[in-house]
Amino acid sequence: MSLPPGFLDELRSRLSISDVVGRKVMWDARKSNQGKGDMWAPCPFHHEKTASFHVDDRKGYYYCFGCQAKGDALSFVKETENVSFMEAVEILAGEAGMQMPARDPKAAEKLDRASKLAEVMEQAVQYFRLQLRTSTAAEARRYLQGRGLSETALERWEIGFAPDAWQGLWDHLVGKNVPEDLILGAGLAKPSQKGGKPYDTFRGRIMFPIRDARGRAIAFGGRAMDPNDNAKYLNSPETELFDKGRSLYNHKPAREAAGKGQQLVVAEGYMDVIALSEAGFAASVAPLGTAVTENQLALLWRITDEPIIALDGDTAGLRAAMRLVDLALPLLQSGKSLRFAIMPEGQDPDDLIRASGASAVQNVMDGAIPMVQLLWRRETEGRNFDSPERKAALDKALRQKIMLITDPSIRSHYGQAIKDLRWDLFRPQSKARLSGGFTPRGVKRGGGWKAPAEGAMPTTQSSFLVSSERAAEGHLREAVVLATLLKNPAVLPEFEDALERLECHDPDHRRIQGALLRHIEADADMLIESVEHEIGAALLEKLFANKHVAIAPPVRRPGNIDLASMCVNDALAKLTAQRGHEVEVREVSQDLDRNDGEPVDENLTWRLREAAEGLQGGGDDADDTADFDVADNGAKLSRDERDAFAALLGSIGKAENSN
Ligand code: UTP
Ligand code: MN
Repeated sequence: MSLPPGFLDELRSRLSISDVVGRKVMWDARKSNQGKGDMWAPCPFHHEKTASFHVDDRKGYYYCFGCQAKGDALSFVKETENVSFMEAVEILAGEAGMQMPARDPKAAEKLDRASKLAEVMEQAVQYFRLQLRTSTAAEARRYLQGRGLSETALERWEIGFAPDAWQGLWDHLVGKNVPEDLILGAGLAKPSQKGGKPYDTFRGRIMFPIRDARGRAIAFGGRAMDPNDNAKYLNSPETELFDKGRSLYNHKPAREAAGKGQQLVVAEGYMDVIALSEAGFAASVAPLGTAVTENQLALLWRITDEPIIALDGDTAGLRAAMRLVDLALPLLQSGKSLRFAIMPEGQDPDDLIRASGASAVQNVMDGAIPMVQLLWRRETEGRNFDSPERKAALDKALRQKIMLITDPSIRSHYGQAIKDLRWDLFRPQSKARLSGGFTPRGVKRGGGWKAPAEGAMPTTQSSFLVSSERAAEGHLREAVVLATLLKNPAVLPEFEDALERLECHDPDHRRIQGALLRHIEADADMLIESVEHEIGAALLEKLFANKHVAIAPPVRRPGNIDLASMCVNDALAKLTAQRGHEVEVREVSQDLDRNDGEPVDENLTWRLREAAEGLQGGGDDADDTADFDVADNGAKLSRDERDAFAALLGSIGKAENSN
């Protein structure tokens, strides 16, 4: 639907943003000046005790000095109510007494039919609910009670019963003068093959109404009472109202609860959603009898950045999760991801709540793992990587998954995360070595998913295997990272963690690094000045005087955020790989020294080769590093820039490969 020109301006001028915002915040009376329309409150978008959220009633804008959230009354409603822009317009237009514009006639007709179908569905909801109160439903009531559903829960979820009759609902609706084609159109009955009366779709089932995001009844899920029924659950067929791949069970209540800060949980079945909600996890949804679709994923991500997928803790559950991972990987955008909460073997959320209570579910939720770890876990759990072939197979499998990611920056982060996990799994463990040689290690179970411990790498100590050439490359990469960040302050926050972890070998670089970290909050325009003020101009002059640094595109022509981010990512990935390699080589050479003439353990030669491979994988693999020429997001390099930069990276790459 399009809005007539001037509609939004009129709407904005009729609204007082402080009224709209005022419903969600407590104004700070001392800081605010009502007369001037200058209002302050603790920010509703991030947790804080002080009032850094500012509303300018005259301009109609809000801005948070803490989290930089900003916008107008429409975006405020959109964000806080978790609704689309048009829905926000509708809400506020209603409040401002403005009539929403009429839709075009065809659309209006379609809408009309849809609302008629929805009305019929509503009548069916009421019919099924009444049936649950009758004596024919005694067994159904007993069953529901046995499943722990209280009277209030039955009411809240509008659970009903379809008697085991061919025309129960049909006769009821026809008797109420509902046109037959609407009953059929709503999927509540099916035409008889023999030309007789149409018959009810749902017979002898417990009925769960399914409502859309706006709360309209669009379908039913019906659970067979008979354990031998060949369909445990039967769902409404697809209709003009019901597109099952675009709907979620409990969508509206879950969206509202998520808007209030509850964690969004995706379970498998209706009963799981009901049990979770009743146990306090009100932001729970389920797909409708199918695997989660791309569309449902988009709906989930509209509600929250990182929904938790509650997985049955069995192989089928894990398989379903991996299909979801495959679906999600190409769609990942910054901030959007999934977490996975793995239920104890053989239990679904409903079972777990009934067996161990809400706190058990909370524990499982707290232990939810990020997607990258699920990938890793599937490929490694219960397996042994005691041969190079097995390791290569692991690398290949993981690489194939990472290649599914289309966003270059996320792809490179995944590559890095996998490398961290890999490093943690395969790196030599000095304790094991001192106490008993080189027994191949399998996968550590449980607790083994952590990144390498901080400080695990010796920083100095030279080795004949760590060439001075390599040290120079490392030095240059440190410099490129720091210079790029200095010239592109906008990307600095993204690299806060990485920068903190970066082990600069050059003491000058360490000083710049420290200053950058301390001024991470500084005004972007003032970053270089702030850093210079702290550590003096000479260090920075020296940094930018390095001609390799000076030709790096994001240094020479700052301001292209995507490019800067890719360059920093790439340099960091290479540094990490290179330094991991140095430690590995050092430790292996120590082992060699300690080996005093004994035949060299197979594992040692393997580890050396592995270290070299790991180094090459540190950034030269096209699959886990951002492509420098043209990124999906449009970052482009001119030919000259590309050649110059390729020369820089190439010289580094060559030195690596020749080693
Ligand atoms: P489950 O078989 O795991 O059932 O199916 P459940 O949710 O634990 O149900 P209870 O606890 O036995 O009552 C999970 C979901 O898969 C769909 C339904 O949406 C169900 O909620 N399903 C299952 C079907 O659509 N048809 C079926 O025959 C079975
Ligand atoms: Mn169940």
